Amino acid sequence: MNKKAKIFAMSNQKGGVGKTTTVVNLATALAALKKDVLIIDLDPQGNATISTGLKRIHGGKNSYTVLTGRFSVAESAVPTNIPHLSVLPASQELLGVDLEFSGVVMPQMYLKKALAECDAFDYIFIDCPPAVGMLTMNALVASSHVMIPVQCEYLALEGVADLLKTIEKIKKNFNPALAIHGVVLTMFDARSRLSKSIAHDVRSFFGDLVYETVIPRNVRIPEAPSHGKPVMLYDFRCVGAQSYIRLAADVLKREREEKHG
Ligand SMILES: Nc1ncnc2c1ncn2[C@@H]1O[C@H](COP(=O)(O)OP(=O)(O)OP(=O)(O)O)[C@@H](O)[C@H]1O
Ligand SMILES: [Mg+2]
Repeated sequence: MNKKAKIFAMSNQKGGVGKTTTVVNLATALAALKKDVLIIDLDPQGNATISTGLKRIHGGKNSYTVLTGRFSVAESAVPTNIPHLSVLPASQELLGVDLEFSGVVMPQMYLKKALAECDAFDYIFIDCPPAVGMLTMNALVASSHVMIPVQCEYLALEGVADLLKTIEKIKKNFNPALAIHGVVLTMFDARSRLSKSIAHDVRSFFGDLVYETVIPRNVRIPEAPSHGKPVMLYDFRCVGAQSYIRLAADVLKREREEKHG
């Protein structure tokens, strides 16, 4: 206990780029290394909740009731079947947050306040919805780092410029320490020229921020959530699972480099 978590907002306003998949599988890979990890499902779609074998919660304790200060993270986080991995489940009520928060003072600060007393985790991954609304803003204000998944497909960088602008705004106004931890290339298809050329473009745009590990397109990845399992527990040997294990190693390596300057 009494840990200071690294908090990652998994963000890209473009839909379907691998945010949830990366949250679930990276979190699982770090939990397998005995790190205490919390996933905060801040997307009303609730895909991260379902992908870890939990149910979306209507009423009761969930990311919405934590966000709005009704319950603490400690009393709301649900342990999964995976040792060291807990989830703060999503709720449909998150859908109303943009409207509900429109009249309050500093609506961007709520998640940060809720996380201030949370000291049980080494890592917290916040799964953001595909929009830069109040939920994503709350995630960026509460986080120490942003991770940006970019899909190796046509228009990969579409929306990323807007995300970078939002990050700058959040840094300036609320969270000066916020840093981009890295960019993950997802759904890479080694046989496709387009995929290779996009990976190349993203590397020229973001430079060393792009993790060495690239997540390939792998059919086991979309199969796993319907079994309520991260891909590592569904098929440990498949390339999808192995690449997320390598990504976790990249993340830890980057941390060691940060520490030693
Ligand atoms: N490496 C991969 N190989 C094959 N399919 C993948 C891979 N990564 C993600 N997918 C599939 O692509 C779809 C979109 O992925 P995911 O839900 O993680 O994206 P997202 O960015 O969270 O989407 P949204 O913006 O809707 O929240 C899902 O069906 C997922 O299973
Ligand atoms: Mg998602």
